Amino acid sequence: MTIASFFDSMDYAPSKEDDSQARAWLTAHDGRFGHFIAGGFTAPGRGFYTVEPATGQRLAAITQGGAADVDSAVAAARKAQRTWAALPGHDRARKLYALARIIQRNARLLSVVEALDNGKPIRETRDIDIPLAARHFYHHAGWAQLQDSQFAGYDPLGVVGQIIPWNFPLLMLAWKVAPALALGNTVVLKPAEATPLSALLFAELAQAAGLPEGVLNIVTGDGETGALLAAHEDVDKVAFTGSTEVGRRIREATAGSGKSLTLELGGKSPFIVCEDADLDAAVEGVVDAIWFNQGQVCCAGSRLIVQEGVAETFHARLAARMKTLRIGPSLDKTIDMSAIIDAAQRDRIAGMVERAVAAGATLLQAETALPEGGSFYPATVLRDVPPTCDAASEEIFGPVAVSMTYRTPEEAVQLANHTRYGLAASVWSENINLALDLAAQVQAGIVWVNCTNVMDAGVGFGGVKESGFGREGGREGCFDYLKPRAFARMPARKPGPPAKARGFALDTVDRTAKFYIGGKQARPDGGYARPVTGAGGEALGSVLGEVGVANRKDIRNAVEAARAAAGWGSKSQHNRAQILYYMGENLSARAAEFADRLRLQTGAKPEQARAEVSASVARLFSYAAWADKYEGTVHLPPMRGLALAVPEPIGIAGVICPDEAPLLGLISTTAPLIAMGNRVVAVASEMHPLSATDFYQVLETSDVPAGVFNILTGSAADLGAELARHNEVDALWAFGTADLARSVENLSTGNLKRVFTDGGRAWDWSAPETEGELFLRHATQIKNIWVPYGE
Ligand code: NAI
Repeated sequence: MTIASFFDSMDYAPSKEDDSQARAWLTAHDGRFGHFIAGGFTAPGRGFYTVEPATGQRLAAITQGGAADVDSAVAAARKAQRTWAALPGHDRARKLYALARIIQRNARLLSVVEALDNGKPIRETRDIDIPLAARHFYHHAGWAQLQDSQFAGYDPLGVVGQIIPWNFPLLMLAWKVAPALALGNTVVLKPAEATPLSALLFAELAQAAGLPEGVLNIVTGDGETGALLAAHEDVDKVAFTGSTEVGRRIREATAGSGKSLTLELGGKSPFIVCEDADLDAAVEGVVDAIWFNQGQVCCAGSRLIVQEGVAETFHARLAARMKTLRIGPSLDKTIDMSAIIDAAQRDRIAGMVERAVAAGATLLQAETALPEGGSFYPATVLRDVPPTCDAASEEIFGPVAVSMTYRTPEEAVQLANHTRYGLAASVWSENINLALDLAAQVQAGIVWVNCTNVMDAGVGFGGVKESGFGREGGREGCFDYLKPRAFARMPARKPGPPAKARGFALDTVDRTAKFYIGGKQARPDGGYARPVTGAGGEALGSVLGEVGVANRKDIRNAVEAARAAAGWGSKSQHNRAQILYYMGENLSARAAEFADRLRLQTGAKPEQARAEVSASVARLFSYAAWADKYEGTVHLPPMRGLALAVPEPIGIAGVICPDEAPLLGLISTTAPLIAMGNRVVAVASEMHPLSATDFYQVLETSDVPAGVFNILTGSAADLGAELARHNEVDALWAFGTADLARSVENLSTGNLKRVFTDGGRAWDWSAPETEGELFLRHATQIKNIWVPYGE
């Protein structure tokens, strides 16, 4: 063959990466690994083999971690944590910097080990996984350096249990380990059973780089080991990436334990192609969106949503491009796609495709010869998949995109949002106004404009809806590894006396406060009321009035009213601020009356009651102020372009108000949510509900749109459980007993609500920490919109 003929055919010969160094490392360990605990490997024990997906051959024997292993890893992490956290930020920064350097120095070895163990192309591990892992350590070395100034008032959480999947083994490790260590936590990490090698190699390298013993521990094993780690009582936080199903189980296992939790779960991310898009660029985008890492990517663009006018051209070009994709062994440097993680996953993908085709979907698949031996699956697009097929709605986690068409931008948004997931989206249009308009409306944690699957350590990554909660990367991700210092010292709350319900007595009907739903006062559905006793107690005859006892139907009505008020989220910040100021002004006008009511309910001294009202007015003003000042950030990742980190409202929030400050507690918990554009269904303090029911009149006179602020009275435990179970409630803030916190965390797994509790500690609502950014962070979720520059 002449050189000229190569130019004609553009053919590649195989070009295999040298794997001798990686094999030598395996041999040095006799092909058997124990766990990495307290700075060294334990003796290998009973376990399983990790295999090379591209050939089906065994790579190494791995130990299955049991309870004793998890105990000893957690104990090692606990022992190391204080000293690690007490190091000056600069010293921790230097260690993280050393970890970044050691990744770079061993980049080729790590790339090969990763490609062997996971089956992904060496081109990807070499050019994406490993450099990005190093970048995470560099970036977070910076946060360690700046911790004192940037996170004043926050402490590390302690010992963090991290559970990661097999699709980006070292990169996921870096995403989790770098922020945890940077901010003074120590780690026990469980890699996926299919891909433990790069984590073990990294631990060994980290030890050589001088990371103190016990700061990073690796326990290998399957889901059982993961479950032991997540449930371990000496773990302060669990960070998980993986399937939504396991995410739910971990939510349940950690409920009420006081553990902090972040979940980065599955996705079914839309890839919207508008008719004015650069179609060739969009076709190349699909290659990166769904064939990168064989589509085994949580944020894969797996739903193509193409505008009707260009659909045929687009699919024809896509089909042509699919023919040129090369599938081969993972160590071949010239291939585009390699093996699926294992045969079971390959069969699962094939099954979903077969079912879709049998149900009438059109199959677009390049006729590519697949290599022998490993678990390979070709690049695939399914058109016109009936919505009843699992391929249409479930995460396929393989190189398979489903494709559908739309007519108008509104329809594109509807299709994009018609999923329980909300991890990522990409939008392709040469009209930046249209692209940003769509980006604003798509429900996702990350939106890529005219690009896809770009990530950086400085830009938060994470989803909305059932794609999980929490962010990894950037300043926004750091908060998930910290806790506010002030609250740790607050005392445990004592349960109040149980409230007694009784049927309406005719003569008291007029004295019974109703609920506030959809901007109107509404009678309780069940017709039950209960007396509210004053500070003197019922025995002394100080019944102050009656309140309704809300039930499931009342919750449903209130949520429905909140749903109808969805426009609140898109009102201007200025407008929301004006309404909060107005509420403050109207409360101030009735200050004396509210102070009296507080005094009668709680027995507070007159000056204390007046102080609570003044603090409530001030807090309304604060959140009015924040409404147009809690803004996003412009990230400048290492590319020509920027990422706009925009705080968005979560949606409908349930709030169980605390007892210790009946008015200030109501305002402190609802005003940040309202200010940020959420709609609220609040349950008044169970013990002292009358300040909340009096507040209806403030709402009625303050131009608060109907349905934005709904208030019910009744049992915190019962209504907390109802709100937790309600799948249209997106967030739940519960301030009550430790039992209430446990119950709402446990019951909120249906739609994976964002739950914010005080863990049963009675907060001092007059403390400055109970106002401001902590609450605003919980009231919002960040959407990162990536906008590259240039043609
Ligand atoms: P998985 O969610 O079962 O595994 C992820 C990690 O969790 C692994 O380390 C596993 O050992 C651990 N784990 C499993 N059960 C656990 C439990 N009860 N408690 C604690 N840890 C547990 O995911 P799997 O089985 O590897 O893949 C199944 C499907 O999940 C895939 O087909 C894909 O659809 C989805 N998935 C999504 C990922 C994402 O990044 N969004 C990553 C991996 C899988």
